[in-house]
Amino acid sequence: MTTRDITVTVDGTAYRHVVEARLLLSDFLRQTLGLTGTHVGCEHGVCGACTIMLDGDSVRACLMFAVQADGCHVETVEGLGRIGQLNPLQRAFHEHHALQCGFCTPGMLMTATDLLKKYPLATDDDIREGLSGNLCRCTGYDHIVKAISAVKGTA
Ligand code: FES
Ligand code: FES
Repeated sequence: MTTRDITVTVDGTAYRHVVEARLLLSDFLRQTLGLTGTHVGCEHGVCGACTIMLDGDSVRACLMFAVQADGCHVETVEGLGRIGQLNPLQRAFHEHHALQCGFCTPGMLMTATDLLKKYPLATDDDIREGLSGNLCRCTGYDHIVKAISAVKGTA
């Protein structure tokens, strides 16, 4: 078994662990650190449920090994806000009914955070295109688009 000592900063806290070289970043977050807000659906890069931010860019945590995040800054849904202290995007999801089962929601929030930071999202079609790598089986996407549209320009 090949192991490596890694240090990863997650939501502002530095974690140092010895991990197996084959450990997925999504499993490192969920199982090693106990940060289960990052969801795992397909585990092969299709559904977007595991989306996190790595050094400022949204990535699929299921397509990376934990060792690849050594020395990096990771942001997860846990870092956005918390119950009673939701950030504006989370509040908009709540107010616009942008979730039903909530399984896709962490990935949607992290992708939307990246989109809002980088793009003007002038039209709803721009938002839909930006979300095209995140699958939702419940909402039909309309309310998610409305929620993101409600906070654009304020992020
Ligand atoms: S669990 Fe990573 S993309 Fe589906
Ligand atoms: S709210 Fe259920 S998958 Fe999106």
